[in-house]
Amino acid sequence: MPTTSNTPNSMLPAWQSLLGRRQKAKDTPLRALFEQDPERFQKYSLKVQNILLDYSKNPIDDDTLADLIKLAHEVGLEDWRDRMFRGDKINPTENRAVLHTALRNRSNTPVIVDGVNVMESVNNELKRMRQFVNAVRKGHWRGHSGKKITDVVNIGVGGSDLGPRMVTQALKPQADDRISVHFISNVDGVEIAETLRSLNPERVLFVVASKTFTTSETMTNAETARNWLMASAFDHEAVAKHFVAVSSNQKAVKAFGIDGKNIFNMWDWVGGRFSLWSAIGLPIALKIGFKGFEEMLTGAHEMDLHFRDQPFEKNAPVLLALTTLWNSTFLGCQTQAILPYDWPLQRFAAYLQQAEMESNGKSVDREGNQVPYATGSIIWGQLGIDGQHAFYQYLHQGNTIVPADFIGSVASSTPVLGHHDKLMSNFFAQTEALMNGITAEEVRADLEAQGLPEEQIKKLIPHKVHPGNRPTNTILLDELDPHSLGALIALYEHKLFVLGIIWDICSFDQWGVELGKTLAKGILPELQNSKVSEHHDGSTRNLIHYYIDQRKA
Ligand code: F6P
Repeated sequence: MPTTSNTPNSMLPAWQSLLGRRQKAKDTPLRALFEQDPERFQKYSLKVQNILLDYSKNPIDDDTLADLIKLAHEVGLEDWRDRMFRGDKINPTENRAVLHTALRNRSNTPVIVDGVNVMESVNNELKRMRQFVNAVRKGHWRGHSGKKITDVVNIGVGGSDLGPRMVTQALKPQADDRISVHFISNVDGVEIAETLRSLNPERVLFVVASKTFTTSETMTNAETARNWLMASAFDHEAVAKHFVAVSSNQKAVKAFGIDGKNIFNMWDWVGGRFSLWSAIGLPIALKIGFKGFEEMLTGAHEMDLHFRDQPFEKNAPVLLALTTLWNSTFLGCQTQAILPYDWPLQRFAAYLQQAEMESNGKSVDREGNQVPYATGSIIWGQLGIDGQHAFYQYLHQGNTIVPADFIGSVASSTPVLGHHDKLMSNFFAQTEALMNGITAEEVRADLEAQGLPEEQIKKLIPHKVHPGNRPTNTILLDELDPHSLGALIALYEHKLFVLGIIWDICSFDQWGVELGKTLAKGILPELQNSKVSEHHDGSTRNLIHYYIDQRKA
């Protein structure tokens, strides 16, 4: 059962026991753990579908893992998990169910919310998506002047941008060249101006993606796009052929001028950052075809079933979450790096940044009490190879420990002679180096072998020592394709869910983004009317004055 008392999760027996295990974990080098247990890899790795997860390079032993799993039971994780899958309203501050899993429920088992089986409307939207995607890709859907669509421009931000943008990039090797997909998220006019510069309005289809259809950045860009279309001597009727929307706010979409039959629905039980499985994924399907989109849904669904049915000891999302919990909340690591060694995954870290940080960047529990422990990690990262030549120095020798997830594939999605083994040699070398480091003795032996004078050796040793003991997870796909990518994303979605339950926070709201939005709304007329409110603090007031004065100058 979930904990309902006011007792913080940190008072649970397993949590208390884990506190007592911290010192040993800090004092035991990771390489010693491997020396003590030759079966460590076999014990601390598992394969789910086409994904191998190796979590053996973390400072855990059998006792710690047993306590972590016990903690997952003590917080009632099974119950919370079942409640999510069956559509209970587990997002309390918005009184909503959390059902991104229903969007990819390929088994089509009924999921009831407020007495209604949501699978009927999910399947209906999928059918509409398929028809639309096929029509555009086959050239049956034409622009106002009768020309085929060659370019799709997605206008959206946050969850209405990051998911489709990341996946479209990741699956480019599987896509054909029928449709080029572009993304506009920023209200900085440079982005839309640069994007539209090379496009032919007769061949462009805009997808305005906004669950609320009130997000200021998206609305501003959508209006600019419509004006651009109109400026090409098109009349208002052209909007029907060049604009579709994805939203749960039908009224606002129609008020914008988009035809009712061009609106794809969203539901309040899909959070923006979990929405790429809905029609928010249209750019993905338009790029790779609907069959590929469905394969992605299937991969995610299989991960859902794994998460739902497997015991925690063999459950990849649970184990991935527990390594993060241990490294962050118990051992004090504040950040986590996401390092793909798969070029198409270049936006994966940015995607996970929103997924995890918007979900778990909270500091009160579900009852509103301040939590007495560290919650959500700072997620950052980029392609591993490029990172090696940028920030890995810090990972190896900085005085802050950054746990990292290394993600790669056995087979390249675009094999080019001589490249993949070189890429993967780095992939394996880095986690080995981060774990083992190099001791002073090893540095000395190396420098002596090079014949350096003793004085120089002494000077160099402290600079060349790598302390090691940097925890990593290795996630190795057989190959990056729609199926494995779907599973990979679902793996991380469930990981953040597990963490949210153990931290006892509300992972599915995002009140923290509202304050800035509200203030910006108030400041905009000040900038437009060159009239600064006296209510701002001294810094903000003077900055706005400076901006207005300089702008005039
Ligand atoms: O950044 C806040 C947020 O509400 C995200 O959660 C969401 O993904 C994004 O804005 C976009 O919202 P919408 O799809 O309603 O435009």
